Amino acid sequence: MVAQLTGKVAMITGAGSGFGRALSLAFAREGASIGACDINLATAQETVSMLESEGGQATVVEVDVSVADQVDAAVTKIVAAHERIDILVNCAGINGRSSVVDMEEHDFRRIVEVNVVGTFLTNRAVARQMIAQGTGGKIVNFASGRGLSGSENNSHYAASKGGVLAFTYSIGMELSRHGINVNAINPGQTDTGMTRRPGNDIQRLESLMGPDVPPHRRVGVPEDVVGPVLFLVTDASSHMYGKYLSARGG
Ligand SMILES: NC(=O)c1ccc[n+]([C@@H]2O[C@H](COP(=O)([O-])OP(=O)(O)OC[C@H]3O[C@@H](n4cnc5c(N)ncnc54)[C@H](O)[C@@H]3O)[C@@H](O)[C@H]2O)c1
Repeated sequence: MVAQLTGKVAMITGAGSGFGRALSLAFAREGASIGACDINLATAQETVSMLESEGGQATVVEVDVSVADQVDAAVTKIVAAHERIDILVNCAGINGRSSVVDMEEHDFRRIVEVNVVGTFLTNRAVARQMIAQGTGGKIVNFASGRGLSGSENNSHYAASKGGVLAFTYSIGMELSRHGINVNAINPGQTDTGMTRRPGNDIQRLESLMGPDVPPHRRVGVPEDVVGPVLFLVTDASSHMYGKYLSARGG
């Protein structure tokens, strides 16, 4: 089969775990060079070692996506190493659980800072780079169905993902005139570092699925989104601007 991303450079945030790691490995197998970005340098380096052992190419970047200078420096580092950026996949994100009455203000602010402000900063920095390159580009932001439906004891996260979706719809329109496709993906409940904590095994994840429960009752694996995200970063989706895909198992 012909590799779909030969010669492309992809910046992937949250590359040290979960969806970001699965997509880094999958994109490298499709021929892309990867800018593997994470606040956790050690896990991002692990991802890079994994894909290099399969013959892939990558640069590891330590970055907190909520800090503008760090995000701009990450883009500069990737462009210095690989000359351009064709694709941004924005997986970095955090979650939490609390009723609204018990919620700490700093927890709400941090989730919004990472999930919403982080999405803004990475999209802005990469869009500037793509516009300067003049050859368009592809941006995929990780949102969540919870940003559409809401989620009990999870209002900070739901609010942040609603923000990611509205931001994506808006800049999808703005950046379309530069040939940049900005879209979002809403994965379902998936077994990743975000959901897998001590005491949070698959059975508990399934019990937490609530109204999200898919008919087949399977908790997702990160690889479930590889096909949909590949669709969003290739020319198959070149007429999609500011939309979302749901890959939620039902
Ligand atoms: N796992 C699920 O069930 C699920 C469902 C819907 C949406 N999502 C979304 O998918 C995305 C990826 O999550 P995941 O499930 O792979 O989680 P994960 O915890 O496995 O991976 C998230 C990665 O983001 C990194 N990160 C956190 N804060 C950061 C920051 N400030 N700067 C840079 N990197 C940072 C973490 O170090 C981690 O490597 C998130 O946006 C999440 O909200 C997850």
